[in-house]
Amino acid sequence: MNQLLKIQDLSKSFGGNQAVDHVSFNISPGKIIGLIGPNGSGKTTVLNMLSGILIPDQGQVFIEGRDITNLKPSKLAKLGVMRMFQMTRVFPRVSAFDNLLIAGYARDLSFEESVEKADALMQELELDHVKFLDAGELSGGQKKLLEFGMCFMRSPKLALLDEPFAAVHPKMREIMVQFISERHRQGHTFLVVSHDMPIVKQLCEECVCMNNGRVIGNGLTKEVLESPEVIEAYLGGHHD
Ligand SMILES: Nc1ncnc2c1ncn2[C@@H]1O[C@H](COP(=O)(O)OP(=O)(O)OP(=O)(O)O)[C@@H](O)[C@H]1O
Ligand SMILES: [Mg+2]
Repeated sequence: MNQLLKIQDLSKSFGGNQAVDHVSFNISPGKIIGLIGPNGSGKTTVLNMLSGILIPDQGQVFIEGRDITNLKPSKLAKLGVMRMFQMTRVFPRVSAFDNLLIAGYARDLSFEESVEKADALMQELELDHVKFLDAGELSGGQKKLLEFGMCFMRSPKLALLDEPFAAVHPKMREIMVQFISERHRQGHTFLVVSHDMPIVKQLCEECVCMNNGRVIGNGLTKEVLESPEVIEAYLGGHHD
């Protein structure tokens, strides 16, 4: 099958801790895939390797058949792989609007293109009323929305989102869900790490579940969530 992303046998350890242990999965174009699993199961480490932040000990990553293992984040951005962080990253002493412009220039948009796109995104993300505030003054949820905007100044082929909904006001969570759903309708592809199961069920038809660095479930979200091994992994975590 035609795959947008292929992950083959990816492994990473930190000292004696095998954070990611021979992980393989694929993402076909146009899908929203959930990446779930208990705390410490290796989800962020996988995203770090997919986005060029960490070099894998072993394994390969392909985008549209091209080997992108070990490419730097700037190179990956040019190939259309964009990453949102679990800890939000915006420039705090620059206005929200200028944060978007900076992201536009970094992706080779002209000033005019950046202003036009930034205006449209500010409206869509309901940040218009705070666009000239320093990004550091925005609430946590507004910063996350701004980071969505920064990732989408130029639409990525693959957006990697690390817990975008965590600790965000429900109203903003709804804006994020709408934002992702709209782009899904347009054919964009997402890998979304989340602990928010209702949203995972709503957004992701398919998901991959990790535990102790390994993939323990991969397929239709409903089926993965009902798998005894997946249930046991989550319950095990709660009883720790
Ligand atoms: N830079 C690092 N140095 C050392 N250990 C790390 C590092 N990053 C992650 N780890 C360890 O690797 C394991 C996987 O961590 P990771 O952050 O990938 O999990 P996660 O699934 O994203 O968890 P969470 O749901 O809590 O965000 C954990 O045991 C963690 O302590
Ligand atoms: Mg994480």
